[in-house]
Amino acid sequence: MIGRPDTVPPGTLYGIGVGPGDPELLTLKGLRLLRSVPVIFTPVARPGARSYAREVVDQFLEPGRQEVVELCFAMRDDTAGMSRQWRTNADTILGCLQDGRDAAFLTEGDPMLYSTFVHITWALRERQPDVAVQVVPGISSIQAAAAVTEIPLADRDERMAVIPASYEGVELRSTLEAFDTVVLLKVASAKDRVLDTIEELGLTDRAVLVERCGRPEQTIIRDVRSLRGRRLDYFSLIIIRKSADVGRSRD
Ligand SMILES: C[S@@+](CC[C@H](N)C(=O)[O-])C[C@H]1O[C@@H](n2cnc3c(N)ncnc32)[C@H](O)[C@@H]1O
Repeated sequence: MIGRPDTVPPGTLYGIGVGPGDPELLTLKGLRLLRSVPVIFTPVARPGARSYAREVVDQFLEPGRQEVVELCFAMRDDTAGMSRQWRTNADTILGCLQDGRDAAFLTEGDPMLYSTFVHITWALRERQPDVAVQVVPGISSIQAAAAVTEIPLADRDERMAVIPASYEGVELRSTLEAFDTVVLLKVASAKDRVLDTIEELGLTDRAVLVERCGRPEQTIIRDVRSLRGRRLDYFSLIIIRKSADVGRSRD
């Protein structure tokens, strides 16, 4: 008699980039895998909070057939606390994979760009080095914002930088001076400092803000002076392109 194997092959974790906000910007591969997995992990800032990534793909999920599990990633200042969170959530994911179930981890934009998914992968590998993980790239907020504003990110010999504004101190100024195009992510909490710096550098008229790019409530603000005294959504970025010349020869 052939007995039931007492171990099942472990499942695979798919890190799926769901794109910036418009469900139509999810890749075909992301959609196929999203529909195929029995378990979907969605990151939230606190228990019961809305998940931006889940909102983007909600219409494609089937809660009757698929289990949707929220994983809490609260923003914390202490690295030790963050690491504990990553490890606890990695344990939850590992439990599912060891039961032989495939799972998706949703990431807004692209999973390899300032994403919790990277930390989850590291925490998983710490526990089980051979864990099967596949990354499905997504359209990042940077590319989507460039598209909706029609601001080219780089042309010919231009150099561009992407920086997380909330972490920047004096380097913000030197980066703005050094690059032709600068994309400032995580700009909400650093807004006034950014506005002061670009004003000092004479770049205010070259800056454009995009908030919740791709969502129905998407906002584009070309007069960034009007942002003084206004609260910005976390999902906001600023593109500063110094040159107004596009497609013209600079030789
Ligand atoms: C932790 S990073 C994640 C980046 C993401 N993985 C990506 O590929 O775009 C979060 C920052 O990305 C930017 N961001 C992400 N999605 C956005 C959107 N839909 N509209 C505007 N900015 C967005 C914001 O600056 C936000 O503070």
